[in-house]
Amino acid sequence: MNQEDRYLTFALGKGRLATKTMELFESIGISCEEMKDKDSRKLIFVNEQQKMRFFLAKGPDVPTYVEYGAADIGVVGRDTILEENRNVYEVLDLGYGKCRMCVCGPASAAELLQHHERIRVASKYPNIAREYFYNKKHQTVDIIKLNGSVELGPIVELSDVIVDIVETGSTLRENGLSVLEEICPLSARMIVNPVSMQMQNRQITDLVNRLRRQILAQ
Ligand code: PRP
Repeated sequence: MNQEDRYLTFALGKGRLATKTMELFESIGISCEEMKDKDSRKLIFVNEQQKMRFFLAKGPDVPTYVEYGAADIGVVGRDTILEENRNVYEVLDLGYGKCRMCVCGPASAAELLQHHERIRVASKYPNIAREYFYNKKHQTVDIIKLNGSVELGPIVELSDVIVDIVETGSTLRENGLSVLEEICPLSARMIVNPVSMQMQNRQITDLVNRLRRQILAQ
């Protein structure tokens, strides 16, 4: 089959990210009517005319689908890309889903970060936490993996601090915690399978350029 005739397959992190992504795609003339039915339990949607397929996946699985080539292109938060560390190309910052990865805790924990103490760090992102403490701060810590509501960690004394996403900061404020150190800024990114990037280079580069122009114009 001519590579130009192949469908481009997109894996989107489901939820608000997928909705935002489809809005952006619509603004450059790529749409998928089937996807708009909120009651549908369908997981994969096709736009026959534009030769595109879209599927919705759990955020952390998006880089996996893209690395194995089950999707040519993925859209997911930079937090997930850093945590999963898959063999994919990051090609575009989509500019939405902006937030920060931070070390947070009670104000009293600030000094524990100054003296290389062996502290406990709870996080949904153990790889990001390990990379930051071990490789950047050179501080040996115990990392405890949690699956959500991470702010509970310091409150119930499971951990001294947490590594988590901060968007508005209200979850921290309402729980008596604050940002102690900022690790990195985050936003939604587009990722591409390295083989697809070669085989369907024209289609993918064209799409990325159109999206980039649209984002700059917004
Ligand atoms: C995320 C994150 C923080 C919160 C930050 O949690 O883990 O808890 O949002 O947002 P804010 O700064 O605007 O308050 P999410 O709602 O995804 O749920 P989770 O705690 O179950 O991971």
